[in-house]
Amino acid sequence: MAAERAEEETVSYEIVDRVAWVKFNRPEKRNCMSPKLNRQMLRVIEKLEFDDNVGVLVLTGEGTAWSAGMDLKEYFRETEALGLQGTRHAQREAYAWWKRLRWYQKPTIAMVNGWCFGGGYGPLFACDLAYASEDAQFGLSEINWGILPGGGATKVAQVLMPFRKAMYHAMLGENLTGREAEEAGLVNEALPADKLKARVGEVANKLLEKNPWALKATKDAMRRVGEMTYENAEDYLIRAQEALNFFDNEARKEGMRQFLDDKTYKPGLGAYDLSKQKK
Ligand code: COA
Repeated sequence: MAAERAEEETVSYEIVDRVAWVKFNRPEKRNCMSPKLNRQMLRVIEKLEFDDNVGVLVLTGEGTAWSAGMDLKEYFRETEALGLQGTRHAQREAYAWWKRLRWYQKPTIAMVNGWCFGGGYGPLFACDLAYASEDAQFGLSEINWGILPGGGATKVAQVLMPFRKAMYHAMLGENLTGREAEEAGLVNEALPADKLKARVGEVANKLLEKNPWALKATKDAMRRVGEMTYENAEDYLIRAQEALNFFDNEARKEGMRQFLDDKTYKPGLGAYDLSKQKK
């Protein structure tokens, strides 16, 4: 049996031109999420969150999987053997990094290169955008081994997919291809495997051109308003914009100036030149 991978080797990353490419790195176990991986992933994303060299985070997988979900041996069987405390501890470690990612300071993109199962739907949803290889496979396989889709996976399917499709997906445990996942709303777009990285890089570069404070406010607002009445959303958005002005009071003025006075760009067709904005 191969030696067990050390905790710090369960996640890898590199930063290239302000994009952090973070990888689930247990290809021999199809990148399933063990307590070690969950702890290491939290460390890695925390380290990158306020690193000035990083503007966008991409989450992908080494090998043939994005993530085969929770580790049935190390996350379920072995922690259950420790009693309720073991189970709760392992759950908190997993949920902690998904939550951190849901409210991440930087824009995030899931680049689903292969298998994506069960618990994998947590980080999939946590990422702001998602792109998949056409031949990736998405499944709520829990029903196939006798549990319900926990760890938020049911909620993810219910939020992202039309009701009938979500119900069928969860009850039948049949997989969707990347293309079908796009049609069902699980990802933004599915592409041939050899085009996936280029497309994700292109989207990441477009995000790098936008005002980072406005991006953070926008992505948080998009998640928050889902659970608000229209009245509350309207009010929240006023307050969120005013809070945004506290962090960056020049953005909108500069955006207006370059359009109205300099006539150097059109907001309907692209972003203002960030480099000209007063710091
Ligand atoms: N938990 C624990 N081990 C897992 C795992 C998981 N979720 N997914 C894969 N592995 C392990 C396998 O046990 C195997 O270990 P071994 O080499 O020690 O025998 C290794 O990873 C490779 O997996 P294998 O099944 O041989 O790879 P495959 O490419 O033929 O099939 C999958 C890939 C993803 C279809 C298959 O591994 C699978 O069904 N995994 C479980 C997916 C799942 O139900 N996840 C939901 C959990 S909530």
